[in-house]
Formats: sequence, C-alpha cells, structure tokens
Amino acid sequence: MSNYHIKNLEEYYQVYRKSVRNPELFWEEVAEEHFVWKKTWDKVLNYDFSKPEVKWFEGAELNITENCIDRHLATRGDKTAILFEPNNPDEEAEKISYTELHKRVNQFANVLKDNGIKKGDRVCIYLPMIPELAISLLACARIGAIHSVVFAGFSSSALGTRINDCEAKMVITSDGSFRGVKTIDLKGIVDEALEDCTTVETVLVAKRIHSDIPMKEGRDQWLQPLLDKASEECEAEVMKAEDPLFILYTSGSTGSPKGMLHTTAGYMVYTAYTFKNVFNYRENDVYWCTADIGWITGHSYIVYGPLANGATTVMFEGVPSYPDFGRFWQIVEKHKVSQFYTAPTAIRALAKENLEYVDKYDLSSIKVLGTVGEPINEEAWHWYNDNVGKKKNPIVDTWWQTETGGMMISPIPYATPTKPTYATLPLPGVQLALMDEQGNEIHGNQVDGRLCVKFPWPSMARTIWGNHQRYKDTYFSAFSDKYFTGDGALRDEVGYYRITGRVDDVIIVSGHNLGTAPIEDAINEHPAVAESAIVGFPHDIKGNALYGYVILKETGEGRDHNNLRKEINQIITEHIGPIAKLDKIQFTEGLPKTRSGKIMRRILRKIAHNELDNLGDVSTLLNPEVVQSIIDKRLSSELVS
Ligand code: WTA
Repeated sequence: MSNYHIKNLEEYYQVYRKSVRNPELFWEEVAEEHFVWKKTWDKVLNYDFSKPEVKWFEGAELNITENCIDRHLATRGDKTAILFEPNNPDEEAEKISYTELHKRVNQFANVLKDNGIKKGDRVCIYLPMIPELAISLLACARIGAIHSVVFAGFSSSALGTRINDCEAKMVITSDGSFRGVKTIDLKGIVDEALEDCTTVETVLVAKRIHSDIPMKEGRDQWLQPLLDKASEECEAEVMKAEDPLFILYTSGSTGSPKGMLHTTAGYMVYTAYTFKNVFNYRENDVYWCTADIGWITGHSYIVYGPLANGATTVMFEGVPSYPDFGRFWQIVEKHKVSQFYTAPTAIRALAKENLEYVDKYDLSSIKVLGTVGEPINEEAWHWYNDNVGKKKNPIVDTWWQTETGGMMISPIPYATPTKPTYATLPLPGVQLALMDEQGNEIHGNQVDGRLCVKFPWPSMARTIWGNHQRYKDTYFSAFSDKYFTGDGALRDEVGYYRITGRVDDVIIVSGHNLGTAPIEDAINEHPAVAESAIVGFPHDIKGNALYGYVILKETGEGRDHNNLRKEINQIITEHIGPIAKLDKIQFTEGLPKTRSGKIMRRILRKIAHNELDNLGDVSTLLNPEVVQSIIDKRLSSELVS
C-alpha cells in the first residue's frame, strides 16, 4: 500500500487509519520518501494546542526551492515548470523550463540580496499574474526572506495596512497589469500606499504594460536591468524546519486583516503530498489552477505544491470572459490541460453563457476537475460535471482555508465516490470533529455542527504575525484543545462532510473572504453616515453578495440616495477594493440591537434573505419597533449599479 495515488475507497480508509493511528510515522514516511533535506529531523511533531504551539520536523534543515527546483534539474531540466498564458490570446505563451526557472530565481534572489534583503526580512509582493510573481516568491524563499503577497486587486489603503503590519522592507510591483480589456496602474497604487509607510526602502518594478510611470529617486528601480546583471548562481539559504516561509493576510470577522504565518518544512510536505494525491498528478500532466497567486490557493497549488512534484503548472494572467467566455476552454484545449482547478463563482458565471463556448473546444485532455473557495451549489456542480467533465471525470470539491495551508477535505479521484455539494472525506492526517454550541463533540453520522480539527497537520498556520494572542483567541479558544475553522458542516449517513458556510461574520463573495467589520468601518467614514451593518444574501453568480443597512446622520438626510450609494461604494473601493462593494444599500433609521448594544445581524440577515416569517423572538431587543420599519423599507431597497 502506498501513501500516494490511492486507488480505491478501501485503500483510502487503510491509509487514513494509518495516518490517525500513528501520525508521526505517517508524515515521517512521506517526508523521507519525497524530499531533499540538508539534515533530517530530530522529532517529527511537538505540539500543545493550549498555547498554541505546533512544530513539525524539528531539527530538520532544508530549502524549499531546492525541493521545488534544483532536485528536478537532473531529470526534468527541460520540462516546463511554469507555463505562462498571457491575458491577450494573440501574445505567445511562455514556457519556463526547470533549468530556466532555476536561473531566473537565482538572479532574482541575488537582486534581493543586492538590495539589502536578508533572511527573515519581509518582502511585500504586489504583482499581476505574470511569471515574475511566481519567481519572486521563490527568490524570497531561496534566501530565507518572508514573502507577503497582496492580491493586486486590493486598494492602496488595504495594501498599506498590510505593508505596515508586517513592516516590509521592500515592495515588488509592476508598471501595471492587463485584465481583459482593462489596464490597471499598479505602481500608482503602490505609490499611494507608501505615503503612509516608513519601513519600505526599495520598490522593484517589473515592466508589463510598458507605460511611462514616475519613479521615485533612491527608492524605485526597474527590475529587468538588475536581473540582467545578476549572477545565475545563488546558494540556497539553510532554513530550519520551522523558519517562516510566508505571511498571507486573510480577513477576520473583526479588526484588521490577520497575517497568517506559514513555516517551511510542514507546509512543503503537506502541499506536495495533497497536490499529488488530490489531483492524481502524473509525470506528463499539465496542471492548471485558475486562482490568483495573491490567494492561498495560488501559493499552495500554483507554486509550491506543483513545483515540489516537478509538475507543469499553468499561470493565467487574464479573466474567464476575455476575449470571450470560451477562454478557459480554449486554454485547456491549447495546452492539453489534465487537471483543472477553479472556483464555484467562475463556474456559475460561465454556466450562464451559451454552451457553445464550451462545446467548441476539445476538452478530452481533462482527467480531474477541482473546485475551491466556497460551497458549490448542486446546479453548478452538475453543469461542471456534464459539460466540462463530460460525466467521466471526477470532481474534487476541496475544502480548506488560508489558515490550513493545504486541502483538508476532498475526494481522492477514482477512489472516493463523489456526491454533489459534498467535500466528502478528510484527507490522510486530518482529524475532524463536529462540535455543538456547548462545546461537546457530536459523534455519529447524520449530524451537523461547528467544524474543528483536533490534531495538528503539517501545513497549519503557526501564528498571526505579531499577534499570537489573537491567533489563540480566534482559533483555539472556542473549543478546548481544538482548532476551530469558523465553518459549519454536516456529516451524512456515510460520514461525508458538506460545508454549510461560515458561522462567524465573514462573508464569502465570489470566493473571497470578507470580514464585515472592516467594510462597516470604511462606510462609517462617509461624512453623512452615522452607523452601518453588513450582511450577506444569496447571489446566483457570486454565491453571496453584500447587503448594507446604513443609518444617516442629520446632514445626510435629504440627500439623493443613489448618489450616496455610489459614494459609499467608492469609499469601500478606496479602503478595501472593488471586491467588497455592496450590491444593495438600504437606508434605515435604526438597527436592531440587543440590550447590551450589539447589532442583531441574525435578524438583518433574515431580512436580506427575505425570510420574513421566521425572524425569531424580537421582543428582547432594545428597539423591537425598528425591525418592522426595516422590513417595510426593504421592499423599496435598490440595487447599486
Ligand atoms: C470556504 C480558500 C465549501 C470556507 C482555500 C473556508 C469552502 C473559507 C470550500 C476559506 C469548499 C473553501 N466548500 N466552502 N470546497 N473551500 N471554502 O481562506 O468557508 O480564502 O473557511 O481559503 O472558504 O477561504 P480562504
């Protein structure tokens, strides 16, 4: 029995049981078999969830880039590592071999060093989906610098907050980006963000759109001339197993974004292991994940997991609708993609379009389809299965989080029978628990509860950068001795899991996690706004959209509501980014509150969902009369265009 490429359900259960009976032995076997270590570990696992502290492979020394690049050179030097597909289909795709990647990562690493970046320094990366993005991650890892990628759709203020939080010494960006018919001035956004940042000494600028942009003397440098001069050799820094690899920010239900810290060895072992198993990756496959590297999915399953397996990984710069809605399928045909991994929101958007966009292309290269980021609804699952998978390719519905680093619940293709809307079974090494609100574990099947993990897995985030207490409070305090995911789930009669959604104030819009508090804070900055509350409501493409209830100050009364709605969305765009814009804004005189002054979002959510028969007991509210007035006005609430 191999831990890899599990062939059937019985074998899955065998491997799973082995991983639970002796997790240390299980992960030790995986770590020994598939990686190069400069020194092996003294102890596989040390942990204490009460602190919480988790250490995997302590004593080991390695560099993740040697595992992702150098060790493939002898056998896969000419194989394509990164296959870059540009936004414009007329621009030629670029195939970067492992040998070429080695050279480019080393040159980039030398440029980082020449600009004063050392092991442990933080480097913020704000780049579009161009090869430099993947290369800059690897260059940081090569020298032990901690990368912190910020999705290039975030606003200058969101970028600035993240740069300041991790005290980045450098920002890597580009002169702009292409997205469909649009170009975006990324460097301008960086300049604005840096007005309030004191730690950044250098900005490296990649050329992508060839626009003439201002460069700040002494701070900004064009990347390419530096790369051209740099040596192609750069020795990999010796990293300890638990040395930080990267920080990636994710939204919390309250407060500022959380800088989740991932460390080196455990993250590498787990993402590589899950990549190979969940996608059934074979040597000549071409794998494509459509996510942006600005999110965890891109870190783990465009860059590190695939490259650690010597895979060919596609990086797509553009959007699914450009030049038309057939772009994804055109790329699958063109590059003979074997594994295709995307988000339910993209599937729903494409399912609305004419089927000809799919049928026009030869998708016979596909072997495995994947989804991630939010629960997939039954209709979207069937559309994907029927039209893309032609009813013959397994769909892996993978549940996981920025915090988990790698996939946690997913079918194994050809082994786990799939079931629409179910992420199915925990992957080897993942020990789940469903909890009731009193803190008791719910045993047995056909139950639902709050989803927790009761034993460490190698790629779990180790802390929140600069705030370990918040890490403990957010993930390890709701239930003693367990990691709490923030999601609800049900377990069916055979033990399959279905994720039912967030149980906190995080709303997933088009697969992006958005905390309500930062959006409310942004809205409240509008001079006419007194108070606001955000909830999610179902949306047929985005999954959820945002519904805002806004109380105006006296100064705002009498103003044109449509203008106000636009201004509110403008403020949100400036503070967070366009992904957090509200679809509906209802102006109201009050918000339902408990006697202690807490906004009762449960009621607001029901109103936004139009579930008016079932509001529950409102009599204990401080201001029960406000509920009816909100309902009355709801009927006239308008969409923001
Ligand atoms: C949700 C993305 C249902 C979930 C990798 C989780 C999902 C949050 C699924 C993490 C899925 C992700 N089915 N829900 N297959 N995958 N989620 O941090 O609520 O961007 O907690 O990580 O997305 O989102 P994040």
